[in-house]
Amino acid sequence: MDENLLMSQPAVATRRDPFDRGKFGPQLLTEGEAIRQAVVRARQAGKSVGLVPTMGALHEGHLSLLETARTECDLTVVTIFVNPTQFGPHEDFRQYPRDLERDLAQLGRGGCDIVFAPTNEAMYPAGYTTSVDVGQLGQVLEGEFRPAHFRGVATIVLKLFQLAPADRAYFGRKDYQQTIVVRQMVADLNVPIDIRVCPTIRESDGLAMSSRNVYLSADDRRRALSLSRSLRLAEQLVNEGQRDVAVIRAQMQHEIDAAGGVQVQYLAFVADGTLTPVERIDGPTTIALAATVGKTRLIDNLLVGK
Ligand code: PAJ
Repeated sequence: MDENLLMSQPAVATRRDPFDRGKFGPQLLTEGEAIRQAVVRARQAGKSVGLVPTMGALHEGHLSLLETARTECDLTVVTIFVNPTQFGPHEDFRQYPRDLERDLAQLGRGGCDIVFAPTNEAMYPAGYTTSVDVGQLGQVLEGEFRPAHFRGVATIVLKLFQLAPADRAYFGRKDYQQTIVVRQMVADLNVPIDIRVCPTIRESDGLAMSSRNVYLSADDRRRALSLSRSLRLAEQLVNEGQRDVAVIRAQMQHEIDAAGGVQVQYLAFVADGTLTPVERIDGPTTIALAATVGKTRLIDNLLVGK
């Protein structure tokens, strides 16, 4: 069994009465049956339901998904679950920031209706064994460095779709490969849910918002800016007519190297909407990268050649 599964989720700090849907915050549900009933009942009553899966430690990126969901759906459900099966054995599952009270307050201000925050044991009871194999899509890019990651993501996302059978589910473009994997999983397994992908939200200096940014020291944070800067540089080169991926990649790498202390894991150019590499920018192309800055692993991407 996955070692991460053996670690208990910290107990939910405050268990509000699930029927106390006060004016000042979302309803908090922790049981699978409760969330299923809430979603099914809402849909039976003719309401559309929007689902926003998260691992908590919420920031403006997450809240932008909620905001879009609110404009498109009658009822919004945000899930908060630090999913052990998508972390590798030496990754940051234990350290991953957790602050349910703060998340609930933010979601209250953001107008969320229901929060589903299950325990580890509720999602992966003893004897749990099934998982979703996403094939080759899970082996490339992120998959080369995090081999079991997308198996864990696809499994938990499918479980959340089963527990909260919403009309639409909202994902951020920040995790580009995740959006491809989830779309493919939904198509392959005939899951009746509309996948919406929302833009990446950035800090004012360009750093893509991430729950993991709290790990960055002031120095690391400055270095990390070279990632978004390199993507902007690539965009500028493409806008000036550069089409050769090798040339753009070399200039991006140069920009990142100049910051010092940033190790690129991959710098990929793929036809947008796919994970298929391209040699030339002949159409919409997503440039996706992963790098470590000190001990922190960051990802970012940008669509160019629109
Ligand atoms: P998490 O990293 O918490 O992200 C939850 C959702 O927020 C994802 O769809 C992610 O792409 C989106 N998001 C994160 N940062 C963003 C940003 N700067 N701008 C826009 N959207 C952003 O992704 C996961 O959790 C998990 O893998 C999950 C799907 C919940 C499955 O466990």
